[in-house]
Amino acid sequence: MNKQFYITTAIDYVNGQPHLGHAYEKIITDVIARSQCCLGSESFYLTGLDEHGQKVQQAAEDNGQNAQDYCNNLAEDWQAFAAKLGLSNGDFVRTTEERHKTVVAEILQGLYDKGEFYQKEYVGFYSAKQESFLTEKDRNDNGEFDPIYGEVQELRENNYYFKLGQYQQWLIEHIEANPNFVAPDNRRNEVLGFLKNENLEDLCISRPKERLSWGIPLPFDSDYVTYVWFDALTNYLSIPRAIGRESELWPADIHVIGKDILKFHAVYWPIMLRAANLEIPKQILVHGWWQKDNQKMSKSTGNVVDPVAVIDEWGLDAFRYYVVRELDIGPDGNWTDEGFAARYGAELANGLGNLINRSLSMLGRYRDGVVPEAHDELAHDATVARDKLVEQLRANELQAGLMTIWSYIARLNQYVDETAPFKMAKDPNQAKRLGEVLYNLTESCRLLAVWLQPYLPTTSHRIMEQLNLPKDIINIAQSGWGELTAGQKVNKPEALFPRRDK
Ligand code: MSP
Repeated sequence: MNKQFYITTAIDYVNGQPHLGHAYEKIITDVIARSQCCLGSESFYLTGLDEHGQKVQQAAEDNGQNAQDYCNNLAEDWQAFAAKLGLSNGDFVRTTEERHKTVVAEILQGLYDKGEFYQKEYVGFYSAKQESFLTEKDRNDNGEFDPIYGEVQELRENNYYFKLGQYQQWLIEHIEANPNFVAPDNRRNEVLGFLKNENLEDLCISRPKERLSWGIPLPFDSDYVTYVWFDALTNYLSIPRAIGRESELWPADIHVIGKDILKFHAVYWPIMLRAANLEIPKQILVHGWWQKDNQKMSKSTGNVVDPVAVIDEWGLDAFRYYVVRELDIGPDGNWTDEGFAARYGAELANGLGNLINRSLSMLGRYRDGVVPEAHDELAHDATVARDKLVEQLRANELQAGLMTIWSYIARLNQYVDETAPFKMAKDPNQAKRLGEVLYNLTESCRLLAVWLQPYLPTTSHRIMEQLNLPKDIINIAQSGWGELTAGQKVNKPEALFPRRDK
């Protein structure tokens, strides 16, 4: 069966409402998924929710609800959020669904039968916030555990452990032989540094039911539930398997994640798969974290960006544009309301919006909205930009791709100023030249709509609508200059990004 491009996001804990960080990860993943479709390969995009574990159980208790009701309520908000972001996801996983739980139990049983687990007593400390056991190494210079661990409990309990160490050398060799397995490079070096300098400790994959009941029961010992990370990571495989598309989708092409959960994805997950004799994903793509006004976002101080409020005020595509244009995949980013408004005004309202509007208005005014005969003055510039964009999309260089598109927009705005069609229109001797300029502009508007498909799907559709062209997905690499035909009658333009000057 043909392999389909398969991309995922991390699945979010359902212990609160979605914020900018969650939105960013989902949008960049969506742009990559849509790019694949616009470059000729079908793609399957999976996102969803991580609903088990102590963190969620605690949040439910704090809300006076049972865990399942609590998750069901919040899941509605998160699903609505995915729709609000205009995501093209093909499924939405919730780890409390039977279809997921069955596969987790299958994998656990297989590893247990293979002798990959053993039982031992643990005496030490546990961070519910990070859902992980701590060691003396996690104490800071004052002998205390870092605040990132939240409240730390002391524990003595019997648990099941997964022997990771035996796969350490294999993983180092895999990462060295596959330089793109972890991207960008600094994250790859981080993983290699860790793997080469520390002996991997065995991973505790169980939690006694008496301490934590909110989880998937271990299939071979009903006194325990599954460690939430083992459960959560398996979502990437459980859904393809549950929907009968494992052979088409697995291995995943890209897992998009934030920098804080690198070790789980680049160390534990490949080892789990390797031990289960399954193929490992092709790439872990790691993005940075957003701050607001150079400070950590925090609900308690009110320093947050609410994506839904921004979208309601400015529109979805303005939000999608800003997050992808502002922050490349890798480094950390900083949100400022001023920065957002500035990009909206300069790049969307004045840059793209004004160009489309004046091009189509002039065609309406001077040619009754009818596309003149083809002309190729800008064909070369457009083809160079298109080829560069295609290369950037293939390399997941999303921010650079937007810069390529906007350089072409700048070129077009300059073209309007240079050729001054509004002056030509007054001189009947220049009618032919005016037709040429109008063709170059209108065909460029069409190409912009094609190129914007992965980034700003709604805007791309709206431009196509204004051009009175169909809205089917168009292959970016194959759509070239001159496809707009003479005689096509365009519609009256409407502002794509209305000006918001105070
Ligand atoms: N449930 C786990 C992931 C399990 S994946 C098998 C989890 N959930 S989370 O809700 O805490 O985070 C989900 C994703 O959002 C992570 O990739 C995380 O890095 C990302 N972000 C959370 N806050 C962020 C920012 N402030 N900025 C950018 N991304 C951030 O971890």
